[in-house]
Amino acid sequence: MKTQYLVVMIATLSVAGTALAADDGEAIFNKAKCNTCHKLDKKAVGPSLKDLSAKYAQDKDAPAKLEAKVRAGGAGVWGSFPMPKIPASMASDAEVKVMVAWMLSHK
Ligand code: HEC
Repeated sequence: MKTQYLVVMIATLSVAGTALAADDGEAIFNKAKCNTCHKLDKKAVGPSLKDLSAKYAQDKDAPAKLEAKVRAGGAGVWGSFPMPKIPASMASDAEVKVMVAWMLSHK
C-alpha cells in the first residue's frame, strides 16, 4: 500500500517537472515542422509569424481560436491554401497552446 502511494507521488511530481515553459514554443514549432510553411517575416505557404501577430494583436480570443484551427486545419483566412490539421500525435494540446502563444508574440 505504502509503495503504491509513493509511486503515485513520484508520477505526479515528474509530470509537474516536465511542465512546458513559454519559451518552449519555438522548439515545439520547429519539432512539429511548422517552420516549413511559416517563416518569421515573409509569407511562405502560410502567413509569417509577424503577419499573424499583427493580425491578431487586438483579438483577445485569438489564442483559443487559433489553437482550434491548428487541430482542425482549414483555409480561407489568408488564402485558399489550407492549413493542414495537426493531430495530437504531432503536438499535444498543451504544446499547441504554448506554440500558438509564441507564434503570436512576434510584434
Ligand atoms: C503545409 C504547410 C503548413 C504547415 C506545415 C503548417 N501550416 Fe499553419 N498555415 C498554413 C496555411 C496555408 C495557413 C493559412 C490558412 C488560411 O488561410 O485560413 C496557415 C495558417 C496558420 C495559422 C493562422 C490561422 C488563422 O485562421 O489565421 C496558425 C496559427 C498556424 N497556421 C499554425 C501552424 C502550426 C502551429 C503549425 C505546426 C504544427 C503549422 N501551422 C504548420 C500552412 C501550413
